[in-house]
Amino acid sequence: MSENRYLTFALGKGRLASKTMELFEKIGITCEEMKDKDSRRLIFVNEELKLKFFLAKGPDVPTYVEYGAADIGVVGKDTILEENRRVYEVLDLGYGKCRMCVCGPKSAEELLKHHEMIRVASKYPRIAKDYFYNKKHQTVDIIKLNGSVELAPIVQLADVIVDIVETGSTLRENGLEVLEEICPLSARMIVNQVSMQMEPERIKRLITKLKENL
Ligand code: PRP
Repeated sequence: MSENRYLTFALGKGRLASKTMELFEKIGITCEEMKDKDSRRLIFVNEELKLKFFLAKGPDVPTYVEYGAADIGVVGKDTILEENRRVYEVLDLGYGKCRMCVCGPKSAEELLKHHEMIRVASKYPRIAKDYFYNKKHQTVDIIKLNGSVELAPIVQLADVIVDIVETGSTLRENGLEVLEEICPLSARMIVNQVSMQMEPERIKRLITKLKENL
């Protein structure tokens, strides 16, 4: 396909998008319009390079990429695992590093060890289910929450949580700790499967340049 076609990027809103634009600047991809912090605009264009960028909620990024509304997405590995969309994951961008962990009060350690039927709260029910059912072969009751998940063991909604740990300070300040580590996480680049076939050279060139600058 010709370079006249716009290549569209879906970026997870917030810190990840800023980090991504910093990296893109290093390889000459800029978007001045995006730098206005007060702007409420969601879509930005670089006419010269025939690029479009839009900002979406993190969990929606793999959806836009699977359906081809965006050719390329940048999102956390946690979201990729949880959304389980048909996209190619092509590059670990190295930033946004953190860990997916089972956390709780120290007393919950025994419950995990003895494979008790426990309650697990998480914003990531698919990841929690895969870990407990497929890896640990432990039957658990999974409760989906939408944030501030650390509350759940404190108010006895759940025995443990499956959540992201970055610095560990949210856990510490709430008397919780990491009990088991599920997997490391970081920002990843994902690509629509058809776009990859239609424009392999353009996309591969981009990946190579990014790799050189990580
Ligand atoms: C994330 C995560 C933890 C916290 C971990 O929450 O769910 O709560 O950050 O970071 P830390 O280890 O550096 O303390 P986020 O701020 O995204 O908000 P949420 O609780 O609404 O998901």
